[in-house]
Amino acid sequence: MKNILCIGAGYVGGPTMAMIARNCPDCRVTVVDINHERIRAWDSGSPPIYEPGLREVVAEALHRNLFFSTDIPAAIAAADIIFVSVNTPTKTFGEGAGMAADLQYWEKTARQILAASDRDKIVVEKSTVPVRTATAMERILNGNDKGVKFEVLSNPEFLAEGTAIADLQSPDRVLIGGKPTASGDRAVQELVEIYAQWVPRERILATNVWSSELSKLVSNAFLAQRISSINSISALAEVTDADVQEVSRAIGMDSRIGGRFLNASVGFGGSCFKKDVLNLVYLCQHYGLQEAAGYWRQVIEINEYQKRRFVRRMVHQMFNTVVGKRIAIFGFAFKADTGDTRESPAIDVCRQLLEERASIVISDPQALPNARQIFGEDLPGIEFAEDPAAAAAGAGAIALLTEWDAYRRLDYESIFASMEKPAFIFDGRNILDHRRLFEIGFNVFPIGKPALSHL
Ligand code: NAD
Ligand code: UGA
Repeated sequence: MKNILCIGAGYVGGPTMAMIARNCPDCRVTVVDINHERIRAWDSGSPPIYEPGLREVVAEALHRNLFFSTDIPAAIAAADIIFVSVNTPTKTFGEGAGMAADLQYWEKTARQILAASDRDKIVVEKSTVPVRTATAMERILNGNDKGVKFEVLSNPEFLAEGTAIADLQSPDRVLIGGKPTASGDRAVQELVEIYAQWVPRERILATNVWSSELSKLVSNAFLAQRISSINSISALAEVTDADVQEVSRAIGMDSRIGGRFLNASVGFGGSCFKKDVLNLVYLCQHYGLQEAAGYWRQVIEINEYQKRRFVRRMVHQMFNTVVGKRIAIFGFAFKADTGDTRESPAIDVCRQLLEERASIVISDPQALPNARQIFGEDLPGIEFAEDPAAAAAGAGAIALLTEWDAYRRLDYESIFASMEKPAFIFDGRNILDHRRLFEIGFNVFPIGKPALSHL
């Protein structure tokens, strides 16, 4: 039986390993973490993250061939293949602060692997890392005098939160980068055989290590760039009475462009888009490619502009002041079907509204614990409400910031009746029935579409 280990039991490590365990009954999969609370949660069958379908996949394999542990050295010693899925956040100090990836957790993990290994192993980069990280890893791992040899592979993860289980079960592609040597090829083949137990072989792509590392950054950068592109057009649509959704549909029907990832929004969030684009900018700068760096930096700048623009529009429409006004926030997670709030556009929107001295009530089906942690319980001007209707009662405006399906089906007539008039709704995701809301009496401000206002 092959022993697979994953170091890091987060949004990637947990679901990815549960999927491998489910599909590969001949492998024993162990996931370790320094965070004991997380491991306890996984091990009890109640994952520490919200992800549709995850609990069921974990339940199928838990304690059969899927195990969670905090004994990291023992797990390393027993493993044949070690996935490393620790966090690689943006560096907040020293050279490259605010842009480069902080690889301290990665490097610590490499040293832990080295210390606890007494036989050859395959080490797989699952975390998103800057291109050429594998060289540094190889140097740390293979500079040992124990006679142990490590083969480092790159196998970036492309799952999106909220759809992680479907993405893992049926990925567009699995990318595996390895060294062009006999032992490199053997290692790649070993990993291919694991994925091939449920992924069609034509979707498993083998490349060189550097292409694999770079493809992950570029993939996120292209996705983020599409959103910033359409968001920049939403600003233009608002002043020209064009409708950005009609524009998205029209351009998306060109098969060369494609229809996905063209939803204008209050801005993209999530733990990775900003971090990975900044990382790409940093790499371009590092290699002296200033024009390329400037091009990608603009993707981030448009995203910041979009969030500021959303708040400016709210303040402007609400008679140029929101001081003391109650504003209901519908959705705090960075996207629907997750409780994750990392880099959520809602954080910046709420902060900017607080700066304008509004009084905000945050509501979200999954993300309230994180929202409470971000702002604290007692910050003046903030309340939290489980029920969106309760959040809106007495408010002068609703800002919809996450595209939770439940928000489409609320009883907006009674919500309207409970609000201060004139009542505003700012739909930061364009998911509501704007015409109907207008007929109920709301002044409706979508993104990149003509406003429907009674004023
Ligand atoms: P996360 O913060 O949820 O999980 C990382 C885990 O690693 C944490 O639980 C942390 O305690 C643990 N850890 C850190 N150092 C450790 C050590 N030395 N030993 C053991 N455990 C350690 O992060 P995540 O969202 O799972 O992301 C992990 C990586 O995957 C990142 O590089 C990210 O860019 C990439 N990625 C994330 C997503 C996503 O949707 N979140 C998708 C694709 C790729
Ligand atoms: C993204 C990528 O889609 C994954 O392939 C990748 O593995 C992952 O980053 C990662 O590396 O972490 P994720 O951030 O989980 O996944 O979610 P997305 O669906 O990409 O959404 C990101 C943000 O863009 C969200 O805030 C979402 O609301 C926003 N978005 C998305 C838009 O504003 N418009 C769109 O058309 C699509």
